[in-house]
Amino acid sequence: MRQGHCDRVSLICSRLYTSIAQKKVLPMGHPRRYGGKGSISMKNKVNSDHVFYRNPTKYYPTAQWGKGIYIYDNDGKRYIDGSGGAVVVSIGHGVPEIQQALSSQAGLISFTHGSQFTTEAAIRLAERLVGIAPSGLDRVYYLSGGSEAVETAVKMARQYQVDRGVPSKFKVISRWTSYHGNTLGALALSGHTGRRRYYQPLIQHTPHIAPAYCYRCPFNQQPDSCNLECADDLEKAILYEGPDSVSAFLVEPIVGATAGALVPKEGYFQRIREICDKYDILLIVDEVMTGIGRTGKYFCVEHWDVVPDMIVCAKGLASGYTPIYCVITKDKIRKAIMNGNGAFVHGHTYSQNPLSCAVALAVLDYIEKHDLVRRSAVMGEYFVNKLQGLLKHSIVGDVRGLGLFAGVELVKQKKTKEPFDPKQKINVLIGNRAFEKGLICYPGNGGADGVRGDHILLAPPFIITEEQADMIVTILDESIGEITQEHNLQPSDQRGH
Ligand SMILES: Cc1ncc(COP(=O)(O)O)c(C=O)c1O
Repeated sequence: MRQGHCDRVSLICSRLYTSIAQKKVLPMGHPRRYGGKGSISMKNKVNSDHVFYRNPTKYYPTAQWGKGIYIYDNDGKRYIDGSGGAVVVSIGHGVPEIQQALSSQAGLISFTHGSQFTTEAAIRLAERLVGIAPSGLDRVYYLSGGSEAVETAVKMARQYQVDRGVPSKFKVISRWTSYHGNTLGALALSGHTGRRRYYQPLIQHTPHIAPAYCYRCPFNQQPDSCNLECADDLEKAILYEGPDSVSAFLVEPIVGATAGALVPKEGYFQRIREICDKYDILLIVDEVMTGIGRTGKYFCVEHWDVVPDMIVCAKGLASGYTPIYCVITKDKIRKAIMNGNGAFVHGHTYSQNPLSCAVALAVLDYIEKHDLVRRSAVMGEYFVNKLQGLLKHSIVGDVRGLGLFAGVELVKQKKTKEPFDPKQKINVLIGNRAFEKGLICYPGNGGADGVRGDHILLAPPFIITEEQADMIVTILDESIGEITQEHNLQPSDQRGH
């Protein structure tokens, strides 16, 4: 009751404020300057309905509709979708062609089970995906979630090993400072201590190697003079574990959620491919964030001319219009399974969903028609360059990215790269301030050592213009500046300047 009352009061205040704000030009930094109507402080407010929200202590505004790079809530406030949700939205919101594809497919058939039928949409989408994937990858297995897709790839690798007659190979090596999903199997393979900690007793222990993290090199090297020690770490782990026991290496081409767009040095993935080949180990690349154009190529591994054995992709495949992911694999894996057991001992009810396949096809059409992968490359360069301006802040340690996939790392001390105390939640403070100002970004933590380390991940839709990219940078600039001031975050030798 009390909560409902608070909500009504807030709404009245918000409308009153809106009518006042509309009559004058708002200054830079004003919550409503970028967003039109309706912004109210979300402090001390929570949702009082029956939804079990991700964070029950946080207030979630009601999203009403979306168009292009914008989402509008039911107060009429406009948000720039600067991270495409969680690196999902690639072509923008509210595209009529996608609505059309969805309703056409629904007019034919909305559901068939993968154990009983195939569909035109599934066949055509697979053909399309194989056409854009690195050559040699020519079979597509559909899923509905990223964690599910990662675990599918891992199980596919294992069954391949058994069915081709090497049953000793079962281990999957992955990396620290990585994220592959929240289901127990995918979480075990992820290297994010903060997300694993609660569930540690429930997850299997699997081998992890050091990340390719040039800003915080785990081997104390410099990118221009190192010998790719981080890639060689894979060989060490394989030898320690025993090559006969290792089935696959699982890796994000650019780390996303855990550390904010860690781009590896040129040569890293080529070396990784060589090591996998040397020890007869499958290379599984997790392109859940980077796939389907996000980094300026359809698949991120294309930047290094590396052909993995499997690609797990991608949040952007249907641009958020429906849930669909897939594993694109070499046919040798399907053949081994076909000639071994005969069937892949796996499956999910909503895999190969015709609606999702039709939507993904329409999204790929839209991307191709509007040349959006090239646009992601061109706009990405502009965007990452503009973001470099944030380095003027005493708490911005690094800005990095490739295509429209960018990260801003926040540090307590630039010189020492000391991270903030995670209790301060600096990433969340900045993310919330930006949200109040009408910018959605994706704050994360744990990059420095699994728990400490703050960053902001940015991944706007590929249709973004230079002016809109500038707006994102401006709001982030203001948000970082304000939080630095309000929380007295400048290093002591810079205070008072
Ligand atoms: C690289 C990577 N893999 C897997 C996942 C898990 O995807 P989902 O949240 O759909 O389970 C994510 C999610 O952010 C991801 O970034």
